[in-house]
Amino acid sequence: MPEIDYLRISLIDKCNFRCQYCMPEEAKLNYVLNQELLSNQEILTLVRDVFMPLGFTKFRLTGGEPLLRPGLVDLVRDLAQLPACKDLALTTNGFLLADLAQPLYDAGLKRINISLDSLDPQIFDQIIGNRGKSRWQQTWEGILTAHQVGFDPLKLNVVVIPGLNDQEVLDLAALSIDRQWHIRFIEFMPIGNSYLFGEKAWIDSEEIRQSVRQKWGLVESNIKGNGPADVFQIPNAKGTLGFISQMSECFCDRCNRVRLSADGWLRPCLLNETGQIDLKTALRDGVSSENLQAKISQLLLLKPEINFKERDSGTEAGTYTRTMSQIGG
Ligand code: GTP
Ligand code: 5AD
Ligand code: SF4
Repeated sequence: MPEIDYLRISLIDKCNFRCQYCMPEEAKLNYVLNQELLSNQEILTLVRDVFMPLGFTKFRLTGGEPLLRPGLVDLVRDLAQLPACKDLALTTNGFLLADLAQPLYDAGLKRINISLDSLDPQIFDQIIGNRGKSRWQQTWEGILTAHQVGFDPLKLNVVVIPGLNDQEVLDLAALSIDRQWHIRFIEFMPIGNSYLFGEKAWIDSEEIRQSVRQKWGLVESNIKGNGPADVFQIPNAKGTLGFISQMSECFCDRCNRVRLSADGWLRPCLLNETGQIDLKTALRDGVSSENLQAKISQLLLLKPEINFKERDSGTEAGTYTRTMSQIGG
């Protein structure tokens, strides 16, 4: 088993998009009340005094949409300054990034992952559940700003859904040729929403790799992330193509992460909440850092058994009560 040294921290469960695969329109979301959100100070205390002494060195800020979190830039500054913070990253939908990219970079964030499911504004709006003025252009400008500001690596996440955006995979892959962008194709995961896209709602990564091979060729890349992506490259391209294949090729045995929800629950697996711990209540009750570390160590020992067990049947995954938007992907 790999060392578990990567914590994904959800900063807020609200989102300004309604991506169909993540936050089904009909889902009745009871947002976490402000006083139930972990404060910046509580997040900092947990990271510095509890997770870092346990060997955690990699941190990713997620949502809902993390750019909606008040005080985000301050939190990034505080986390980036911790000596044991070897990697600080953020996953966003990019809509508010044009204004926030520079302040975030200046605060110490150096790498960022942005969702971009389509280059066609109409399909993009359909996927993100937007019926008003198109949101594609502003999102694209957010991506370009992040590029100009210097985020490196800059990764674009594409959840490929048959019949929605699967015709675009080559156009999206082409974005990696002239720019040092890393395009990642993600197999849709059925979590609370398997009814949405029919019987087999994902495209196997190998199918996409075949199309790329036929058009340009494809080689393995020696640039790797901290995440579950298998990384390839179009020959001589500046960027890479990553494949996140939790449906067709389970990667649970190399999982190196746990997740902290915006209201302070520590969850051992994206698709399984068995054994989760309420760190916020413990912290507010004055439980010591040593005691919290002991509880977490227990959970980490059990973690190899807690993973995405329903993968092979492709049915609803694991035990969970939260949507993807509430977990933070
Ligand atoms: P890098 O360190 O940049 O490689 O990050 P990452 O790929 O872990 O992060 P990102 O937030 O961009 O996630 C991309 C996709 O990977 C999302 O669809 C996530 O849901 C999925 N993913 C991330 N971690 C896990 C995991 O532990 N299990 C599963 N099944 N999927 C995951
Ligand atoms: N399956 C796969 N990926 C998903 N994401 C959100 N919901 C799903 C799902 N059901 C991805 C988003 C984002 C990341 C945090 O999680 O595209 O890039
Ligand atoms: Fe879309 Fe991300 Fe918001 Fe989910 S959290 S609805 S994937 S933008």
